[in-house]
Amino acid sequence: MILNIQKQILALKKEKDAVILAHSYQSPEILEIADEVGDSFALSTVAKKYPQKTVILCGVKFMAETVKILSPEKKVILPVEIATCPMAEQITPQEVLKFKEKNPIFKVVAYVNTTANLKAVCDVCVTSSSALQIVSKIKEPILFVPDKNLGSYIKSQLPGKDIILMNGCCPVHDSVTEQDVKNIKERYPDMKIAMHPELPPQVLQYADYIGSTTGIDDYVSKVKEDVVIGTEKSIADHLNMRYPSRNFPLLSKSLMCPDMRVTSLMDVYKALIGKGGLEIEIDEETRLKAKVPIDAMIELGK
Ligand code: 13P
Ligand code: SF4
Repeated sequence: MILNIQKQILALKKEKDAVILAHSYQSPEILEIADEVGDSFALSTVAKKYPQKTVILCGVKFMAETVKILSPEKKVILPVEIATCPMAEQITPQEVLKFKEKNPIFKVVAYVNTTANLKAVCDVCVTSSSALQIVSKIKEPILFVPDKNLGSYIKSQLPGKDIILMNGCCPVHDSVTEQDVKNIKERYPDMKIAMHPELPPQVLQYADYIGSTTGIDDYVSKVKEDVVIGTEKSIADHLNMRYPSRNFPLLSKSLMCPDMRVTSLMDVYKALIGKGGLEIEIDEETRLKAKVPIDAMIELGK
């Protein structure tokens, strides 16, 4: 059944001149039909290298928006309209504009998990894989939005920097508690723990490795042993499949993102036949303003 749908999707991709990009949190059956799989940084830039006119972005809305901002000539479709990241909506452009008015010397650094409208009033974007490198290059004081957890991790790594945080967070990663770490350590006392920097500081203090989804993947392939996974469950699932003789227990059962899990193969199929999904549209003025911090991210991330 699944194989049959996958075959039809692969044929439709050619027929409709479409490329499929998938965030690494997507299900294995979606990763199998994707042309590219990656973290949010990789997905933001990769669409440009494909000649296809349509991009099907399997992930959440801000990722599809980022592709559209950088590749306006392409038709960008999010297969499930309601696949949004709650963190992306937590801070409004008005709040940032108010801050900038009172604090003109500050640079506003936005996690890429933000709406196009918010990016349009920010100076530089970062992803979890590029945040440290980019922030370390900024001389001015910084307002970091929206993720207080990623922001406080950056602060802890760059102690000389003047960084103000806002009160946003990823509800999925933020739900992990210190007790979850104690429980897993009791069960697997010698196992290393890899964590995503969206986890709260009281949890991150126990990490053996902290990095983006791609970073965690690379770490696991290097250490060649069992590792507790402190990010969305899909990453543990993919690793368990890739290395069946190793074990990748999940740090907490709350690490499941409903928005990342909502997209199915049938949604991708329907998006390809024009019977579902959301075509991303961004007015040109907003797109050009939102492109400024994304271009700065690509430049400073080199
Ligand atoms: P990365 O893809 O940057 O690791 O981010 C994880 C995430 O939560 C995506 O929404
Ligand atoms: Fe947003 Fe968190 Fe889900 Fe990522 S895991 S899409 S940051 S809610």
